[in-house]
Amino acid sequence: MNQHLRPEPVAFIDIGAQRRRLGAKIDEAVARVLTHCQFINGPEVTQLEADLAAFCGAKHVVACASGTDALLMVLMAQGIGPGDAVICPSFTFCATGEVVALPLFVDVDETTFNMNIASLKKGIATGRKLGLKVKAVIPVDLFGQPADHDAIAEVAKSEGLFVLDDAAQSFGATYKGKRLGTFGLATATSFFPAKPLGCFGDGGAIFTDDADLAERLRSVRVHGQGTEKYDNVRLGLTGRLDTMQAAILIEKLKIFQDEIDARDNVAGRHPPAERRARGVRQCAQGAGHSDRDLLPEVDAPADGLQALSGGRGRIAGQRKVVGGRHQPADARLSRTGDAGSRHQGRARRAGVRLANNWRMLSFVIARSTCDEAIQSCYSDRWIASLRSQ
Ligand SMILES: Cc1ncc(COP(=O)(O)O)c(C=O)c1O
Repeated sequence: MNQHLRPEPVAFIDIGAQRRRLGAKIDEAVARVLTHCQFINGPEVTQLEADLAAFCGAKHVVACASGTDALLMVLMAQGIGPGDAVICPSFTFCATGEVVALPLFVDVDETTFNMNIASLKKGIATGRKLGLKVKAVIPVDLFGQPADHDAIAEVAKSEGLFVLDDAAQSFGATYKGKRLGTFGLATATSFFPAKPLGCFGDGGAIFTDDADLAERLRSVRVHGQGTEKYDNVRLGLTGRLDTMQAAILIEKLKIFQDEIDARDNVAGRHPPAERRARGVRQCAQGAGHSDRDLLPEVDAPADGLQALSGGRGRIAGQRKVVGGRHQPADARLSRTGDAGSRHQGRARRAGVRLANNWRMLSFVIARSTCDEAIQSCYSDRWIASLRSQ
């Protein structure tokens, strides 16, 4: 890339601003944990699980150590093992595919970037033709935008698959009036600091209405623990959310809806005229099936070079340009050459057309986004720099 085209860096996310807003409440929450010293599975973990359930409407919430563990724990609790294939979208963060022994990547929709339903059907059919045991589908709610959950549920039901929703990037968003966390057999989310609801370290949670699954998940979370502490009835992990993070999340959840509203407010200032003038195409708004809470608008320059710009809040910085090219496997896999080509091979074997030639740019958005930052993502320099990569 030409050095003279490189745009000024903008901070990815301003965690400090949120920290300042919450101020003493966070200090007090952490101090409470330091006083009672129940650092593992302390009362704040149970409290957070109840608060999260009330927030999104799921019956059971199992807090855990990260979004990746949340995905993995559901697959473990469901007995997914070697030889079982799981359908994943071809465009997502690496964690979605990395937890699966045999991921089958299917294409994404070119307007929403979420799982394409025709490609999902084709992937299942091709997987089965190849003799693979296709057991589950993991839709991803990318960049705050819910996947087409009704259509996915219909396909999964008719094909006998369970749905594990990966809402790591979208917790807090709604689909047809219902919060994410209530679709499919289970939903996994991440509390990584840059996520819509982030903690001050690593964290995650699983949401489900299935009481038996919730029980198995609580066992997987602690080394497959049975009724006794040293009774291990299945394979498990050290998958617990630590109490300190739970205490912080309880405080952050109290202002979460307000944060979402603030992002929507900023989004309202996103200038369509400016966007058009810059030759940036706006994607269909959630393909007509999203309520757009928390959703960044998804834009693509007209020449096919697709850019994602967070128009619904603070444009806090360039997040990533995914590989310069949209990869059928994820960033991690494509970095690890062999594994990457193995997964690409699987995708090809599944006979699925994979979108390519995309360059994505995404921004974290927050309440304090200034108009200048919004404008800057349509500047000649940003667009030129994308095109030159
Ligand atoms: C779509 C998606 N799934 C899963 C994860 C994994 O979450 P964590 O980093 O908490 O393990 C992420 C994190 O970026 C993600 O974006």
